[in-house]
Amino acid sequence: MARRIALTGLKGGCGRTTIAVNLASALALRGQKTLLVDLDPQAAATLCLGVEPGPEDSTIYELLIGQEDNLARAVVPTPVKDLHLLPSARRLYGAELELADEPNRALKLSGMLDRMDEGYSLVIVDCPANFGLLTLNALCACPEALVPVLGSSLSMAAVEGLMEVVEAVNAELGVETRVAGMAPNMVDKRTGTQAAIMKKIEGKYGKSLVRSRIRLDAKLPEASAAGKPIQLFAPKSNAAYDFEVLADDMSVL
Ligand SMILES: Nc1ncnc2c1ncn2[C@@H]1O[C@H](COP(=O)(O)OP(=O)(O)O)[C@@H](O)[C@H]1O
Ligand SMILES: [Mg+2]
Repeated sequence: MARRIALTGLKGGCGRTTIAVNLASALALRGQKTLLVDLDPQAAATLCLGVEPGPEDSTIYELLIGQEDNLARAVVPTPVKDLHLLPSARRLYGAELELADEPNRALKLSGMLDRMDEGYSLVIVDCPANFGLLTLNALCACPEALVPVLGSSLSMAAVEGLMEVVEAVNAELGVETRVAGMAPNMVDKRTGTQAAIMKKIEGKYGKSLVRSRIRLDAKLPEASAAGKPIQLFAPKSNAAYDFEVLADDMSVL
């Protein structure tokens, strides 16, 4: 089975998508056959890789609700050879309601990957910010969660909330997901409050904090707007370097 990692966190704009796309790309460029699953109806990861599915194209939505039964028909190539994308589209918003009465509705993604992810050594799932059926599916499908953290008190509260959610999901659904790493993002050493809060996070979750610090780097939003991962858009940028360190970190989590 492929290693499966959910990029999750209950705070919007903390960098889940940025980390999902650029970490997946860094690992794929090292030769790992990687599938990036966009599980957010906002489809940001899909757009960041320059993909825009049409109404007739199969996406994660059709796979989850059972209208499509072939992963290969929905997956698309990306500018990075060993990185494939399972795209999302706004119609995924409907899945939460459409699956509401289904037995095993929390296990749709997990079942789909169990049946279809052969050929990949790594699956990275980009989650939405809220805790709904989609995030629940990601936590049930992925034994590891990677959580971006910002140096703000709101982010700290969101991390605490997520830890409680993961514990509750494990207890209620009998899965064993663990927060394998917390990844500080948008790190800006010049900001005093950020440094103080990062210290707090280190004190509380030191063991889970990854070694890398993803710095604030305007090249990241620029790369997303260009539909490319940072390694292709700005290979000499701080961000490209920081994602190499994060890719190294993944082998020790
Ligand atoms: N390290 C960073 N430096 C600069 N901008 C960043 C960084 N990480 C994320 N961003 C930008 O912040 C915004 C929110 O990030 P995103 O990854 O979409 O968050 P999320 O998926 O958690 O909502 C995006 O515009 C993204 O390009
Ligand atoms: Mg996102």
